[in-house]
Amino acid sequence: MSISRRQFIGSSAVGVWAASVPRTATTTVGEEPRRRQGGMRRILILGGTGFIGPHMVQTALDRGHTVTLFNRGRTNTHLFPQVEKLRGDRDGQLDTLRGRTWDVVIDNTGYVPRHVRDSAELLKNSVGHYVYTSTTDAYRDYHVAGIDESYPLATHPEPGSEDARRYYGPLKALCEQAVREVYPQRSTIIRPGWIVGPGDNNHLFTYWVVRIDRGGEVLAPGTPNDPMQVIDVRDLAEFFVDRAEAQRTDTFNAVGPVITMAQMLYGIRAVTSANVSFAWVDADFLWANGVKPWSDMPVWWPPRNDYAEPTFGGITGGVGALNLDGGHARGNGLTHRPLAATAGDTLRWYHATFDDWPEDRRPGLSAAREAEVLAAWNASRR
Ligand SMILES: NC(=O)c1ccc[n+]([C@@H]2O[C@H](COP(=O)([O-])OP(=O)(O)OC[C@H]3O[C@@H](n4cnc5c(N)ncnc54)[C@H](OP(=O)(O)O)[C@@H]3O)[C@@H](O)[C@H]2O)c1
Repeated sequence: MSISRRQFIGSSAVGVWAASVPRTATTTVGEEPRRRQGGMRRILILGGTGFIGPHMVQTALDRGHTVTLFNRGRTNTHLFPQVEKLRGDRDGQLDTLRGRTWDVVIDNTGYVPRHVRDSAELLKNSVGHYVYTSTTDAYRDYHVAGIDESYPLATHPEPGSEDARRYYGPLKALCEQAVREVYPQRSTIIRPGWIVGPGDNNHLFTYWVVRIDRGGEVLAPGTPNDPMQVIDVRDLAEFFVDRAEAQRTDTFNAVGPVITMAQMLYGIRAVTSANVSFAWVDADFLWANGVKPWSDMPVWWPPRNDYAEPTFGGITGGVGALNLDGGHARGNGLTHRPLAATAGDTLRWYHATFDDWPEDRRPGLSAAREAEVLAAWNASRR
């Protein structure tokens, strides 16, 4: 799960985040923003202009909060002209944050413990509560299903290295530790699973939406019962703003409901009129034919612990990679829109934004490669 995910980390948001569809990108048609709990908050967001940030900003504004963004001013600078933007860099250029006060900070851009510690130290006397955006990749492994917040975290195999592409999960675990040390009793750690929806700059879930909308015989990996777990970015944003309002010290997995691969693919089929059939291709056949989980078959990982490839920081997929326990977050207000809403809105966003995949962000198998693998699979069964 980790390798391919890393390939996309830090990719800029294609520079097109919903210039054309900001409102529908944030809210499913007919849905009202949630009411805020308590008074208006002054919220500082470290980031705010990539994938998850804009949805958080919109959600916070919808609830009447005041938002300030801190980023380098390179990405999607057209977004939120009404919002205050402070310029700086997590790597040592934090001066614009000095001498200001906020009720809560949401740290979306902390990949290196030193950066997170620096910002937490700088803000600890001027910001009441620290919400840190971690990841389920911070866990030691995915070797069991139903991992909850008490599962052991990764240890850094090369202490001192700040290579966030190579050691994403272990570094995020150390970032969490930095937050807890500087903000004891005043921090919330949120570990999202795989995030999907309009504006997704990783494009992995979008691969399936676009592929199924194209129609024909779709290569479906593994078995229909393989677990699948994605969270809609808008549901995640609501949860983050909930937690920013509540300001209670806690740690949460923020993951979607556990469904099956078939439920995801058939659910996506429900939002297109394309004529589609699915060919379920055995995981071992895919592996033997050079088709990799996650990068070639986006968001899919076979639920096996023996199906590993060398990964960053020693983390691999496994039976629990797409089967984590989100009960604690759901007990504290996390809700999920139907998959059809996620799929339909993602398809609309994709068509409103791209004529075709951006060449450098093309996820999954090409059409030609998919046809080649399907032909080999069908031949092997004659
Ligand atoms: N995608 C997933 O499925 C997934 C899953 C689990 C966890 N996560 C977590 O989600 C977070 C990423 O979310 P996001 O990128 O969508 O957040 P975001 O709040 O949208 O922020 C992204 C913005 O941060 C700014 N930024 C990047 N590096 C910076 C730096 N060194 N200094 C100052 N600003 C910087 C960039 O703007 P400028 O270029 O203008 O600086 C970028 O547009 C990460 O913490 C990641 O671990 C993601």
